[in-house]
Amino acid sequence: MITSSNVSVAVDYISRQQRERDAGQRARVTWLYGLSGSGKSTLANALERKLRADGMLTFILDGDSLRTGLNRDLGFSDEDRAENIRRVAEVARLFLEAGVIVISAFITPNEQLRSTVRSVIGDDLIEVYVHCSFEKCRARDVKGLYAKAAAGEIAQFTGRDSAFQEPSSPHLIIDTENTSLEDSLARLSQYVLPRLQLQP
Ligand code: ADX
Repeated sequence: MITSSNVSVAVDYISRQQRERDAGQRARVTWLYGLSGSGKSTLANALERKLRADGMLTFILDGDSLRTGLNRDLGFSDEDRAENIRRVAEVARLFLEAGVIVISAFITPNEQLRSTVRSVIGDDLIEVYVHCSFEKCRARDVKGLYAKAAAGEIAQFTGRDSAFQEPSSPHLIIDTENTSLEDSLARLSQYVLPRLQLQP
């Protein structure tokens, strides 16, 4: 719902196509979703380094950075997660307009949230499920959050007191439980890279 009235889009902006031509790339949003500790941010960083080495203009959006700034007013209730994802998707859409390749790493725990992402971003979206079991993520506990959640210090922790729904239709599934970072990155970039090429 748009609540502000008398707002219109200016017509003389530089087009997205022009910006993409300037940058020599096709802008897309690669959206990585999965449990906390599944490896989303690690993969996002590795992919970004690879793309930048190829001369591409990229930006990472992730839960930790957005939630300390733009989305600092949001927590982890269903409503707040929905608003978190909606805002991030809109930010990603602006980056697309800027011709920038976006890599997003958010838990995005259910199909309703993923469908919001699809409707905001449309055909430019590449959905990647970073799969790792709850048990394995808990064993890794990179940020110590699983231990805190078990001690009752974090409410609504995803996979524990708040549901994580298996996705039905990602473009790609990366199984970080059974695949090395190197092989996961190879699989991810093999899928993503051709989709970032400008058509002649
Ligand atoms: S989402 O569900 O709205 O997509 P998002 O990806 O932005 O979540 O944020 C997840 C990050 O917030 C986690 O990686 C973790 O560091 C932190 N976090 C803090 N509290 C929680 C919680 N209750 N559930 C999940 N992650 C949490």
